[in-house]
Amino acid sequence: MSLPSTDEIAAKAHLLPMLRAAIRSIETENLDHAETFLDSILKQEPGFADALHLKGYIAFQRGTLDMARKLVEQAIAVDFHYENYHVTLGHILLAAGDRDAAKKSFGAAIALNPKYCEAYIGLAHIFIAEDALDAAIGALFTAQNASPKHAETNYMLGYAMMTKGDAKQAIRFFGIAHRLAPGNIRYKAGLARSLRDVRMKRPNPELVTSVLPLLGTPGVEPRDLAPVIESAICMDPLFIALNPIDDLPEKQASAVLADPACPDLMQIAALPVWLKHGLVSHPALERRLTALRRGFLSLALRNRAALQRYEPLLCLLAIRAFQAEYIDRVTTSETAQIESLATALDTLAPTEHAPLFAVYACYRPLYRRHDAASLAAAAWPAAYADLKRSQLDEPLGEFRIAGGIPALTPIEDQTSQTVQEMYEESPFPRWHQPILGTPQTVSGRLRTALPLQQIPVEERLNPDILVAGCGTGLHAILAATSYAFSKVLAIDLSRTSLAYAKRKATEIGIGNVDFAQADILKIGGIPQRFDVIESFGVLHHLRDPAAGLAQLVGLLKPGGYMMLGLYSELGRRDVVKARDLITQLGLGDSPEDVREFRRILPKRDPQLAVNLAKSSAYYALSDLRDLVFHRQEHRYTPQQLRRLIDNAGLDFLGFEFSSPKPLGGYRARFPDDVTATNLDHWAEMEIANPDLFANCYRFWVRRKG
Ligand SMILES: C[S@@+](CC[C@H](N)C(=O)[O-])C[C@H]1O[C@@H](n2cnc3c(N)ncnc32)[C@H](O)[C@@H]1O
Repeated sequence: MSLPSTDEIAAKAHLLPMLRAAIRSIETENLDHAETFLDSILKQEPGFADALHLKGYIAFQRGTLDMARKLVEQAIAVDFHYENYHVTLGHILLAAGDRDAAKKSFGAAIALNPKYCEAYIGLAHIFIAEDALDAAIGALFTAQNASPKHAETNYMLGYAMMTKGDAKQAIRFFGIAHRLAPGNIRYKAGLARSLRDVRMKRPNPELVTSVLPLLGTPGVEPRDLAPVIESAICMDPLFIALNPIDDLPEKQASAVLADPACPDLMQIAALPVWLKHGLVSHPALERRLTALRRGFLSLALRNRAALQRYEPLLCLLAIRAFQAEYIDRVTTSETAQIESLATALDTLAPTEHAPLFAVYACYRPLYRRHDAASLAAAAWPAAYADLKRSQLDEPLGEFRIAGGIPALTPIEDQTSQTVQEMYEESPFPRWHQPILGTPQTVSGRLRTALPLQQIPVEERLNPDILVAGCGTGLHAILAATSYAFSKVLAIDLSRTSLAYAKRKATEIGIGNVDFAQADILKIGGIPQRFDVIESFGVLHHLRDPAAGLAQLVGLLKPGGYMMLGLYSELGRRDVVKARDLITQLGLGDSPEDVREFRRILPKRDPQLAVNLAKSSAYYALSDLRDLVFHRQEHRYTPQQLRRLIDNAGLDFLGFEFSSPKPLGGYRARFPDDVTATNLDHWAEMEIANPDLFANCYRFWVRRKG
């Protein structure tokens, strides 16, 4: 949707300064201010179409769809010839769930101006929601032919191509959008997402150079870039030249590293950036990093001077080891050496001996050392700033934050205590880049999530949102940025997770979330009530998920909605196998046992090892603990979900998917079930495609009646 340019405004010159001021206020998101200007204009000229249109646009932003529609229709009645009025109306109608009327509005805009990209984009949104991807792509190509440099059209083409499964074209169009508007975060994230499944067979330095700057951008999930970047690193001649080190025992590895002719891996452009931002999830790269670490440990004890040239690499190895929470294998000999190094460091200071501290930090986190406080206060060489921040300043800061987080309920249930203990040790997920949502009204968010449901248009200004089991805050921050003008309460059992969440939210500047410690089993006693409750990946960790669900249902405002994420029995079949193996092996969930599992797995069940290694969760301790070592998990079939939902007095509103494909597939197979809410049918769909809910069933419910 576009705001009118001031050039478009031909008449009523004396009101133009106020109209310009209103447009500027909208652009800077000061809607109240803008409305004051528009009201003054309309007082003098009640039929000023641009002012009516802008007031309608503001009403739309606020989620008052009836008012928005009325105002924009009035603007159109005054002046039919502005295509952007029709596009605004199209978006309002779409948000209200009236797709046919929305199509007509976009069509009217195209009739007025066949080159108006925004109108084709509006149509494409509808076609994509209907899984009519070819129609969407056709509309977008028409727009692209008219304006090849319209960034949003190219972005939407990328999105439609990705949804269609055409990765090559998706990369192409996202790439064009990104080049046209390099600062746009959505375009960067789109390009990154389209690269998720790319397997590089030969080096493509150009692609690598273009994607490296995406790392570190909010919204760009580094894991999406792992296949491109990690395969590029492993195919680099410098990396290959050092291959023999992988199998060398530590002394020989250290001799290779001490040789001045040893290849300098820091010359591989992607390596330093990746170690800083990404989670290493390539077995060959992981192996190399552990070999380097082994060699450096040996050098630290025998030839300290040789470490000097490796300072930047050492720091990055330590940062990466910390991010992976020391999941890498450690030999008995390394354990003995690290003990010696730990003792030696007691009498040394990082000011002069920083490389030795960095080697230590490749094996154990600095913040857990007995002298962590004095290490944090010490002057470190400048090159060690990132290492100091990640292993000392941030975790010590989180300890302080944890102490200030309020507790809303006691945690008395034994299972809750066990689960709490696990997440206190392993806060999950340890994320680095936030995923930020696009602010929407509650109805808008529900319409995006459930395109087949007729969601009533209700005005929920400043909605109250509860994120129950927020973990380390990724979910809470997504919710806080997805619901416009919302106030979010995010609760969890684990104080370390909450402290991580709060630190990250503060860093990012998210001001509308309160974090608190609470047990869902007791949460019913708090006084607040919520328009939306989201609880993803949580209830299945309660001893009695139905009891937790009942508590949450009691917190819903009348007409409130709930989004739940629960494990699928079928989707987790590999996890079930892994859990059985862990039981057979008699392993617990200590870090040592997690490492032992990774060592044994490829020998015991090579296929399962390959399957699990495809998941990025295999490469970080808390992720792998959460994936296959959980102390308490329930899994569901669609029929069991139905029982849980029915018994809680809830209506099932549908599953939410990130692509329109599953709903398209369902409607093709079960055309009579227009809302796609028959769980027996979904059970059939899942049997036909066992990975349909591999992550979780993500679905929406509301109270019956
Ligand atoms: C797998 S994590 C999911 C975190 C977050 N929802 C996400 O999707 O990133 C599960 C979280 O649920 C929390 N949790 C488990 N049982 C809980 C309970 N009874 N009350 C509150 N939180 C709970 C755990 O502490 C953990 O942080």
